[in-house]
Formats: sequence, C-alpha cells, structure tokens
Amino acid sequence: MNITYDDEHRIFRLEAGGMCYCMGLTGEEGILTHLYFGPAIGTEDIAYLSRAAEYPGIQGPEDRDRAGFLDALPAEMPGYGTGDFRSPAVIVRDGRGQCTVHPVYEGHRITDGKPVLSGLPATFAGEQEAKTLEITLTDPSAGVRLVLSYSVFDDLPVVTRSVVFINDSPEELTLTRLFSCSVDMDLTDARMLTLNGAWGREKKMQISPVVIGQQSVSSLRGVSSHQAHPFLGLLAPGASQDAGEVYGFSLVYSGNFLAQVERNANDLLRVQLGIHPLGFSCRVAPGECFTAPEAVMIYSDRGLTGMTHTCHALCREHLIRSRYLHRKRPVLINNWEATFFDFDLEKLLKIARRAKKEGLELLVMDDGWFGKRDDDNSSLGDWVVNEKKLPGGLKRLSDELAAIGMKFGIWVEPEMVSPDSDLYRAHPDWAFSVDGRTPCRARNQYVLDLTRKEVRDAIFDQLCAVLDSADIAYVKWDMNRALTDVASHGEGGENGGLFHRFILGTYDLQERLLARYPDLLLENCSSGGGRFDMGMLFYSPQIWTSDDTDAIERLAIQEGTALLYPLSTMGAHISVSPSQAVGRLVPMTTRGHVALAGTFGYELDIDHLPEADAALIPGQVALYHRFNDLIREGDYYRIFSAQEEQYHDSYIVVEKDRSRALMTWVQVLARPAARSVRVRIPGLDPDGKYRIGIADPAVRNDDGSGNFLHEGEVHAMRAFLDRPVSGRTLAGAGILIPVLRGDFRSMLLEFVREQA
Ligand code: DGJ
Repeated sequence: MNITYDDEHRIFRLEAGGMCYCMGLTGEEGILTHLYFGPAIGTEDIAYLSRAAEYPGIQGPEDRDRAGFLDALPAEMPGYGTGDFRSPAVIVRDGRGQCTVHPVYEGHRITDGKPVLSGLPATFAGEQEAKTLEITLTDPSAGVRLVLSYSVFDDLPVVTRSVVFINDSPEELTLTRLFSCSVDMDLTDARMLTLNGAWGREKKMQISPVVIGQQSVSSLRGVSSHQAHPFLGLLAPGASQDAGEVYGFSLVYSGNFLAQVERNANDLLRVQLGIHPLGFSCRVAPGECFTAPEAVMIYSDRGLTGMTHTCHALCREHLIRSRYLHRKRPVLINNWEATFFDFDLEKLLKIARRAKKEGLELLVMDDGWFGKRDDDNSSLGDWVVNEKKLPGGLKRLSDELAAIGMKFGIWVEPEMVSPDSDLYRAHPDWAFSVDGRTPCRARNQYVLDLTRKEVRDAIFDQLCAVLDSADIAYVKWDMNRALTDVASHGEGGENGGLFHRFILGTYDLQERLLARYPDLLLENCSSGGGRFDMGMLFYSPQIWTSDDTDAIERLAIQEGTALLYPLSTMGAHISVSPSQAVGRLVPMTTRGHVALAGTFGYELDIDHLPEADAALIPGQVALYHRFNDLIREGDYYRIFSAQEEQYHDSYIVVEKDRSRALMTWVQVLARPAARSVRVRIPGLDPDGKYRIGIADPAVRNDDGSGNFLHEGEVHAMRAFLDRPVSGRTLAGAGILIPVLRGDFRSMLLEFVREQA
C-alpha cells in the first residue's frame, strides 16, 4: 500500500492490493480531476487521461468555452453552477439563495493510519495498516472549504473516501448536498448492479445496462431499507462471476441514501454515493463543519467473486469491531416464530429445557416481554418487564435459565414509541410529528426523536436498567418502521437534517451501549434485513437477514447478502415446515444446511416439533460446531445462483489455507429425464489432492422427510466420493451431481486435502 504525490505532474497516486486510484490537478487553479481507477500501473505521467488538452483545452474563467471544458472534465468533487452540468457532489446555499460553488485545490497531507469519523461508523485501521491522503479544496467566493479523506489498506484493492464540509464564510450557509464519493470513469458499455427487494425478500441482484442519463438506487425511508441497498456495482463488458473487471461502491451508512450513475453523451460515467439530497439540508454556522459518511470503492479483476472477497475482508479486518467477530456464536433459540406475543415464564422455560437437551446454548426472548405488550399495539418505550408474564422479572428468568445451563438474550426496539405507552403519555413531543398533522402510524407505532439528547438519555437509562437487572448476554435491536412526519419539537428547530441526525442518534445509542457492555453480543434487525448495511455492522457483528426463514427463499436472500457481507454476519435460523412465510414444506436437513451459512440457530417451538425433526437437532448442532470456524472465516464462492436459476443453488466455503472446504448443494426443483449437473469447484489448491465426503450423515438415513440420499444417488457420485482428486481437476473438469428425486433436497460435501 502506498500514497504518493508526484509534484512535477501534480498527480496523486493511491495503490493497494494490486489496485491504483489516481487524481490530478488540472489548470492553474488546480481542479481536482479523476484520472484513473483500475489495476496497478506504472508511475508515468497519466494526466492526459483528463483530456484537458483536447478541444476546448484547459480554460481559465475568461476563456471562450469554459463551460464546454468543465462539462467534460472528469471531476473528483464537482461543484455547481460554473459549467459542469452533470450531477454536482456539493451544493451549498448562502443567505441570498446563491448556490454556485467551484472548489479547487488548496493543499494536502499524507499520513499513516486512518483517522476516526466522529459520530459515524467507518472503516478503521492501525497506524501501519493504512495510509490516508487528505486533500483540502476551497472556494473563497462561496466561503466553502472541503477536506476529502482517502484511505488505502494493506493488501486490499479498496479506497475509502469521506468528506468534511467547513463553513469558511462569515455567514451561516445551508448545505443541501454533500456526496461521499463522486468518480468520473471512462467505462463504456458498463452494466450496473444493484440490490433491491422488499420485506421478506431482501437483496435481489439486479443488473441493467447503463444508458445515457441518470440511473439510481435510493432510500427515503430513514433506513437503508429492504427495497434498496447503499451499494452500486459497475460491471465492465464481459465481467462475470469469476472474471473481468467489477467496481463496487458502498456507503457505510444506514439512513437515506442515493447511489447513482450518470452517463453523458461522451460515455463518461459519473458514480456518486451519499446522503440523499431530497429532504436534506443542514445549516452550518461560520467555522462549523459537517461530515459526510464514508464511501468504499472496490476494484476487482476477478469478477464478482473478487469484489465479494475484498468486501468480506474489509468487513472482517476493518469494519466490524465486535469481540465476537472471530468467535463461534452460541447456538440460539428465538421464541418469535414459536410463540409470537403469547408466552410466559413457564412456556419459555419449557422451550429452554428442551433446547438445552438438544445442545442449544442461548434463549432469546423476542418481542412482548415488557409493558403490557400482548400484540403490536402498545408499550414500545416502556422498557419495564411485564411481571404478569414473567413473575420475578428478568432476574428470575435469567437465573432459571442459568440453572438449566442456557444463556439469556432479549429483544428491544429502542427507536420507537407506541401511542399507547406511559412514555408517550408523559412526553408526546418526544415522537416525531408535524404541528397540526396527525403523524402516520406504521405497525401502530411512532418514531422517537433521537435527534434530542434528552430522549436518547432517557431510552439509554431504561436500557441500562434492563441490562443491569439480569444476566443478559445478547440483545436483538429491532427497528420496525420507516420514518414519516419527521419534525422535531426540540430546541433548535432545524428540521432539514433530521433524517441524518436521527441515524446519528441511533449510532450514538449503540455506541454508548457497547461502551458500557463490551461483552454484549448485539444483533441488529429491521423487520429482517431492512437495515443490513455496512453502517450497522460497525456496531454489531451479526444482523438478522430476513423475516423470511423459509430455507428456499433464504437461498436467494443469503446469496444477495453474501455478495457483500461475510457469512458470519448473517442471522440464519431453522424454522418450522411448512414455513410461516410461504407455507412451503422443506425437509429439516435442508433447513439445517441453509442455516449453517450464517450465525445458525432455531426459531421454532422445539417442544412441539415433529419428533423426527427434533431428533435431527443434535446432529445439526454437531455440524455447526464442526464447520463454523470454516464457514465464519473461510472464503465464500458462489457456484450456482438461486437468484438466476430455478433448479439448483450451490456455494462453497474454502478454508484460508485451502486445506478444507464445505460445499452446499441444494436442488431446488427436480426435473424429469435430466442429466447430472457439471459443477466446477473453485478456490481449492490446484496441487492438493482432496478427498470428498458427504458431510452430513443425516441425509443417508431415510427419516421420511424426503431428503434421503439413497444408494442410487450416492452410486452416481462414486467417481469422486471418498477418493483423492486434485484441486486442478476439480476446478477444471469438476464433478457431476446427479439430479436427485424430489424438490428441496440438499447435501453438504466436505473436501479435505490429503497430507502431501
Ligand atoms: C421484526 C423482526 O424482524 C422479527 O424477527 C421479530 O423480532 C419481530 N420484529 C418482533 O416484533
């Protein structure tokens, strides 16, 4: 990794992990120009890439076609109103409504390490693990100063960027747009990759051609959302799963965002990510500043797989802080899909006793334990145990669980308040609402004004009282509605930046919680994966991936999530069949295999499970213990995509030293008269010999569930089962997986490298 400034040619060069990102200073005024983002190159003068010398040439303000020049220049921090008519990265308004801004170079410095972004989640690194370039741009006429911070990390083809806006003028300025990154790329015929979805079917990959004009993905919901994701990929022509150039852009942020590509008539692409400008404005007093969240820019010359591996490594090494990151998490059982709100002490203990018997380790008590909450109509904000359900309170429950040998976890939704709650009755002004308008309810709840410190303090105190009252190892932090009626009744009365300040309030609460309870295992959640993003991973090592726990639906959801995030971050539970989400019948073994590709746990009434299913639990738990180190820390490769085809899905996780791998094969639908499927196995050591075995003995027992791997099917795999095959042959020739009889069948294949 290195960052240099070539004084003679005025070029900044950032290099890391085989990637290079270059910027230049154009013209006498020093416009920060984007020159290059791609594979490593030499140190020659590449300023020509700005095309500034082409007609109409480098232009000063008084030249004939200044506008034509600026409108074609690949800018790194495009302003507004001086000739670049594409999307600006910054807009600031003064007291007279003037918005023109044209920031140019003032100075820079290069330092070791990476400074923290105060109040915001961001990637981090030690002094020796990263280098940072800070470039200061100014526009004295607009009173604007911008500090752009770029960091690179040892060995990763990644550049991060954040931006601080400083009001250098004597009057208050209103910032109405500040994008975190803005990259002008020379990339013709690129395709754009986004992750879209809905509740229960998060992170569906969508690939579309980049046409002339603007295309975007965004959220205005106050959360990154189920519908969109703060990520945008660009696939160069020919890029595929494993080959070709892919660029990934992510925002380390959980609130309203915009990620867009603009293609102009000359096929120059402008990629921008940042806080969504709609509804955003922030008044900044003289001398004060505003910090935009961090953007992450990834380069891959190994297709989507390369981008995935880099993003996983970035999350593991430079984003997730939790001490649980590299630890096997306790196998949990969550009572939500088992009982919903209808539980009491005895019911929970019954589940816990049986769970303990089957080898489970942590009982999570979900929604409904506080206030008088028996459905979703009341009590959010009243974080006081309901003694009618739980006599003796949380202390008694946690003591009883400890006696059984189970750890204890609870659910909270601290950002919300029910109209029917003591908190709301005492402080109706603590909820967001617009004067004269009845606020919109969603799930019958309002959103707390977390922009106000007194509100955050009151909620924090309640959470501390809960966590101090019993031995609580785990918290599931939920958030179940989008933001509407966003207006504050607090001091200051400035409403334009409230969406942003709300998410800062959430970050602040989680930061304080973790500082006070460093051993707490925190799992974020937002009606499933509505806020599964890089911002929240800064606080919790795992996030509930989706409320849809049907194993077949989960294949696509987990595949989309794993495009960016390590498997160790994905909350994945085994639930009942037929599934509550879609009514599908899926064998217990298949449900187990799919949940293994995540944190692994159960979300069902273990006491009322069919005995044949219950009998499989100890074996599933044993598989978890046997393979979790590999799944958590290994390299993940997609083999077949449940999102792209309907018949099968497959992925493999390979240990870092390539000594072992676990491949999951799910036959989604059976087909008549079909030939076996050829599967090339990626990621193995070409020179190693691997012995391949069926990892889950349960599929060899005919338990009546329909996932029985009978002799004929095993026989069809005899050519490669239990005999050494080289990694080279497995990658090239591959293996043949027979079409199995029945839908929703699955198996796990373990690859073990033999000692040389
Ligand atoms: C939404 C979550 O995603 C569910 O897992 C569950 O915790 C419910 N909320 C509880 O209200």
